[in-house]
Amino acid sequence: MATETGSTELNAVRAEAHDCQRCDLWQGRTHVVVGEGNPHGGILLMGEGPGENEDATGRPFVGRAGQLLDTALEEAGLGRDDVYITNVVRCRPTTVKDGSISNRAPRAGEIAACEPWRWLELNLVDPRVVVCVGGPAAKALIDKKFKITEQRGQFFHKEDGRTYIATLHPAYVLRLYSADRDAYRTARENLVSDLRHARHQASGDADSG
Ligand code: URA
Repeated sequence: MATETGSTELNAVRAEAHDCQRCDLWQGRTHVVVGEGNPHGGILLMGEGPGENEDATGRPFVGRAGQLLDTALEEAGLGRDDVYITNVVRCRPTTVKDGSISNRAPRAGEIAACEPWRWLELNLVDPRVVVCVGGPAAKALIDKKFKITEQRGQFFHKEDGRTYIATLHPAYVLRLYSADRDAYRTARENLVSDLRHARHQASGDADSG
């Protein structure tokens, strides 16, 4: 977990990232969305990338997906103050569809360009457990062939000494709400249970429910 020196360095890295132009996403951004939260809690959540609300505020997971994530964290026995939250990319990836701007998944080049920031944050926070929130994070951090629907909820103990687990992205869970209510309920339960498992793993109590 982050040392005092690590926390100071983390603040320096976060400040430096604000001027980043390592990929083209800087051209459309309002804010660079750097990680925030508790660097001493032992859990780091890695999302996909900022959406409209995050771009507007400069903070991760503050829109509808973030609200579901907050509720799921609470049901898993965690609060925002217990975890550090960041993203695979720090600027909002967008596409123009029918004349309006919408979010899109980050491209491989954008994910690669953001890697130094991701790596610095990960190493300075130095969590015991990394929760990959959604497929892009799991592909970037666990395995590029990761299949989120099949492999979520499993622990991966990596050479860096950390345990990784992937869960469903809350934006995906929200999309299920109007499409298939049963699938929504199951996905939401899975999100909560993955976060609960991450909490137990971080506290060295992995076998309890
Ligand atoms: N979705 C993400 O993956 N990250 C955010 O910060 C917000 C929405």
